[in-house]
Amino acid sequence: MIKITDLWKRFGKNQVLAGLNLDIQEGETLVILGHSGIGKSVLLKHIIGLMKPDKGTVDINEIRITDLSGPELFKAVQDMGMLFQGAALFDSMDVEENTGFYLIQHGDPETGKKLRKQEISDRVDHALELVGLQGTQNKMPSELSGGMRKRAALARLIVYRPKIILYDEPTTGLDPIIGMQINELIVKTKEELKATSVVVTHDMFSALYVGDRLALIRDGKIAHIADPAHFIQIDDPLIKKFYATISIDPRKLKEKNHHG
Ligand SMILES: Nc1ncnc2c1ncn2[C@@H]1O[C@H](COP(=O)(O)OP(=O)(O)O)[C@@H](O)[C@H]1O
Ligand SMILES: [Mg+2]
Repeated sequence: MIKITDLWKRFGKNQVLAGLNLDIQEGETLVILGHSGIGKSVLLKHIIGLMKPDKGTVDINEIRITDLSGPELFKAVQDMGMLFQGAALFDSMDVEENTGFYLIQHGDPETGKKLRKQEISDRVDHALELVGLQGTQNKMPSELSGGMRKRAALARLIVYRPKIILYDEPTTGLDPIIGMQINELIVKTKEELKATSVVVTHDMFSALYVGDRLALIRDGKIAHIADPAHFIQIDDPLIKKFYATISIDPRKLKEKNHHG
């Protein structure tokens, strides 16, 4: 469970977070919608401990990570993974080396013990299969399409089996078909890892496809939070504007894809 209480952050005169409160339940996929530049990435960076607030707290499973630094912080957030917006891979490593990177660096996430080569390679194969990239082990990032790079970055994350996954605009800049593959993978990853997921986006289609709950961020706070059915009914011009960007309801599509 993630508990964010009265979070404040500003850069110079730019007050980005202004007393933001948010509780994220274990196992849910929470989508945070908001316009570009509103503070979505800044919020994610606070959740994973990459940024410190001016005021307020972030608790991850009752550990106050905003009080921690160094190795203590590292330990408290090692169960979390973030898919960054750029989804950068290491250019000089092939897909297999990229995917296995964290396992090689940190060993078995459960025990911290060094893993044997074969074990790493098995886990890497499994992660690549999950994202539909089996057989690309020896390809270099430059040989992959944008969508494949995003999937490889996701494989690199899930190989570590994080309990909390943060997605920063996972579908932005992808064409609709590739975006749909990523939406599917977010749902599949959540099911496979039983992970808690936080997805920030301004893609309403994606939000409704993956989200158990949707939240709107505005003026440095969570302006609304509700399940999808209630969220789209909220009488707020910005929500209406987001909803107007989609032509079919992704939830119908999801039902079709997942139940027959
Ligand atoms: N490290 C930083 N230094 C100064 N300003 C920043 C920094 N990070 C983010 N900002 C500013 O904070 C605001 C919110 O940024 P961000 O969270 O990246 O927006 P988005 O919702 O598009 O992800 C923007 O105005 C951005 O310029
Ligand atoms: Mg951002």
